Amino acid sequence: MKITVIGSGKVGASAALNCGLRELANEILLLDIVQGLPQGEAMDINHQLSECGSDSLARGSNNYEDMRGSDYVVLVAGVGRKPGMTRMDLLKINAGIVKDVAGKIASFAKDATVIVVTNPLDPMTYLAMKAIGSSSKQKVMGMGGMLDLSRFKSFIQEATGVSRESIQAMVISEHGENMLPLTRFSSIGGIPLHDFISKEKAAEIFEKTRKVAAEVIALKGATVYAPGNAVATMVESMARDKKTVIPVSAYLDGQYGVSDLCIGVPAVIGAGGVEKVIELKLDGAEQDVFNKGVASVREAIKALPL
Ligand code: 2OP
Repeated sequence: MKITVIGSGKVGASAALNCGLRELANEILLLDIVQGLPQGEAMDINHQLSECGSDSLARGSNNYEDMRGSDYVVLVAGVGRKPGMTRMDLLKINAGIVKDVAGKIASFAKDATVIVVTNPLDPMTYLAMKAIGSSSKQKVMGMGGMLDLSRFKSFIQEATGVSRESIQAMVISEHGENMLPLTRFSSIGGIPLHDFISKEKAAEIFEKTRKVAAEVIALKGATVYAPGNAVATMVESMARDKKTVIPVSAYLDGQYGVSDLCIGVPAVIGAGGVEKVIELKLDGAEQDVFNKGVASVREAIKALPL
């Protein structure tokens, strides 16, 4: 098994490390245009993995051709959010980078399953899918909801004091301003979340879940560990054909009444990639936020160099 991570900044390195800690592949290739960076990250990661007993070997390269033979490609290349920026502010600058890198994936790893991480996540997933021209739309997806739900879970724990292990949470829609944490589809030990927290508390937690990435970025410049872990969870579900139900930015082809767009929805993730999009019956207020997410992604897609 071979995983390639394109973009060896902090998030790319964290994704590679987390995949290595779970021993998801024999080879984990870090690619970057910056000379030395992927090589240095690979060395450092190998030193940790040696001590952890993982036989995933990390390697660094500046040559895109080295991604040949990849089963999974994680696309992190692009500029990250700076303090005060929304994810959408990155649209123009990252579109050129993602299109270019997707072209390289099409040349050297067309059959790989691709996880897009670059922001704004949903439009970039759509752009990568179109630019790679993959025969299967199930094999390109974006990592957003998995990260958002890890934040939602951490706030649920804060509000209830129960073990994080007992918390199941769901966050869908745009990985951005119209993120939709779903109380009705979240639970603690199988008991509906709304039995534990008031509507007011839930509203407060939603707001925090939407805004906390900006807070982390203001404090330390980037979000790093949680995104890396979320990528590894998605790769693991596919590499081990676990069929985990997690939210990913998936291509919709009529589901949720939406066509030709990528946005966060719950899905069964297995060896085939996005094996099934699960359609939730949203109530009026939830549907309103979801519709706003769809409109926002649709608007962004119009500006893409397709
Ligand atoms: C995050 O949510 C910045 O989209 C990135 O951490």
